[in-house]
Amino acid sequence: MCGIVGYAGSRQAAPVLLNGLEKLEYRGYDSAGVCVHNDGGLNAVKAKGRLSVLRDRLEGGSALPGTVGIGHTRWATHGAPSDINSHPHLSWTGKIAVVHNGIIENEARLRAKMLRKGATFQSETDTEVVANMVGYYYEKHGDFVTAVRETVMRLEGSFALGILCQDMPGTIVAVKKDSPLIFGFGEGEHFVASDVPAILKYTQTVAYLEDGDMAVFDAENVVFYDSTGEIVEKKQEKITWEMSAAERGGYDHFMIKEIFEQPKALRDTISPRLRDGQVNLDGIELSAEYLKNLRKIYLVACGSAYYVSVLAKYIIEKTCRIPTEAMMASEFRYCDPVVDERNLVIFVSQSGETADTLAALREAKRRGAQTLAIVNVVGSAIAKAADQVIYTWAGPEIAVATTKAFSTQLSVVYLLAMQMAKTLGTMSTGEYLSLVEGLEQLPYDMDRLLSPKALEKCQYLASRYHAHHDAFYIGRNIDSGICLEGSLKLKEIAYLHSEAYPAGELKHGPISLIEDGTLVVALATIEPLFDKTMANIKEVKARGADVLCVTLEELEENAAAIADSTIAIPKIHPLLQPSLSIIPLQLFSYYVALYRGCDVDKPRNLAKSVTVE
Ligand code: AGP
Repeated sequence: MCGIVGYAGSRQAAPVLLNGLEKLEYRGYDSAGVCVHNDGGLNAVKAKGRLSVLRDRLEGGSALPGTVGIGHTRWATHGAPSDINSHPHLSWTGKIAVVHNGIIENEARLRAKMLRKGATFQSETDTEVVANMVGYYYEKHGDFVTAVRETVMRLEGSFALGILCQDMPGTIVAVKKDSPLIFGFGEGEHFVASDVPAILKYTQTVAYLEDGDMAVFDAENVVFYDSTGEIVEKKQEKITWEMSAAERGGYDHFMIKEIFEQPKALRDTISPRLRDGQVNLDGIELSAEYLKNLRKIYLVACGSAYYVSVLAKYIIEKTCRIPTEAMMASEFRYCDPVVDERNLVIFVSQSGETADTLAALREAKRRGAQTLAIVNVVGSAIAKAADQVIYTWAGPEIAVATTKAFSTQLSVVYLLAMQMAKTLGTMSTGEYLSLVEGLEQLPYDMDRLLSPKALEKCQYLASRYHAHHDAFYIGRNIDSGICLEGSLKLKEIAYLHSEAYPAGELKHGPISLIEDGTLVVALATIEPLFDKTMANIKEVKARGADVLCVTLEELEENAAAIADSTIAIPKIHPLLQPSLSIIPLQLFSYYVALYRGCDVDKPRNLAKSVTVE
């Protein structure tokens, strides 16, 4: 959600900024802009719409010469997407330019104050308030850094800011709180950005800014300050992954590339933690005494990460016999949860910066709970804030619709459940070994579901069902958790109305919506419940639904006798089965989205990292 980038060096800034913004597109945006210091002035060019519009306006960058600048992709919050509301915003004095990722919560009060001081506003954004405040304090103190400091201490909310001052041509000031910001070190050049891919073409050496940190830099020098204004050294870290990991390679879309990356992502996540037939989550301390005294485990997350949490409830309760509850972070943070030191609260997040999840984490800590995060982005806010962290090694996930992050999160849940069950003695040795074996085998099982034949089948089914208007995903027990994720995939990338229900719940209301031509995707991978789900399929078929059933290979014939079409997946350990069921559902949604002409990687209205509430 919004991305910022800043450059000071000897190259032309505009092309560097455009390149960086392109790499931040995945975060979601509806307008973009850059400001370059040139001829003693601040020159901004902004455009509503895709980056290509801005690129054209800038003639690829050549229309805005200069070697120092800031850029922004905006996802509208305060005011509609428009040229005027796009960043960078200039102060009414014309001397300050600002790009901003985040939300200034006391914007209305600050705007009123600045109006009283004589400032004028062009846009509806909270960011222009920041520009005017820095402009005001700059006039007052005559010092750029002091002006930024005076401004930042009055801001409530979240921000990563990149700021230029007309009177300091080579300098950029960057500062952050609750929004991500990384600093890049090059040869005679420096960068700031919301995420690593934006600068990876130029440098692999970065520093992660902490909340309250400020970087004051030009092409040659940088000084970092902490929140108290003290000068601090920042640890330089090497990015270990290559740019190719954040590029499409030969694939049409990031989403399909990332679907294919799942077996590798799973291997990378599982293998280092499975040694000699034993789960070893290095550094994770959950003693038997602690676990035995737990009242309840909560898993708290948003979107697909929440659906991983729903699946985790089934997995942890089955293996550890500890009451477990999944909660959406946006609800947890305001529901006065019954949480104290007798609760373990697990937070699941790909980006590690989802605003609601981060706020829920802080709430859980405030109440004395032990917190553990399952996160993909190293060094992200959630990873840093939690007491303990387990990383998913999915690599950078660019498509807005998560696939490989979901799968790796689920694999971490298995590892964690197994480690806790072993500590508690709630799992037999036989069961433990069979799960170890199943986990080791999982990437190979996934490979089978990504064969050309399997893809062709999903594509064919998408051609058959893509014109439907409504879809229902139904399943029982752990299958119902996978239905939630399958259904979300379909609605977010294919814009097809879709809902997910435990199959047994249908008769309690939703069945009234089933009519001729409703698509029902039924998950039936649990043998003891197979007949029950078949009965539900008959009920919806009797009311005109077209049914696609995902089931086990050995049950396919029986399912095919009732459903209109089937997808068969190999039978593995029942608890691991969701890791396989999700693959055809991801593929199905992907192909439906293509048939419907949707922008698969950048679905409308969505952002990859939801950094505002
Ligand atoms: C998944 O396809 C969605 N884009 C979305 O639901 C996502 O899972 C959710 O916003 C949580 O993000 P996080 O994992 O980065 O916290």
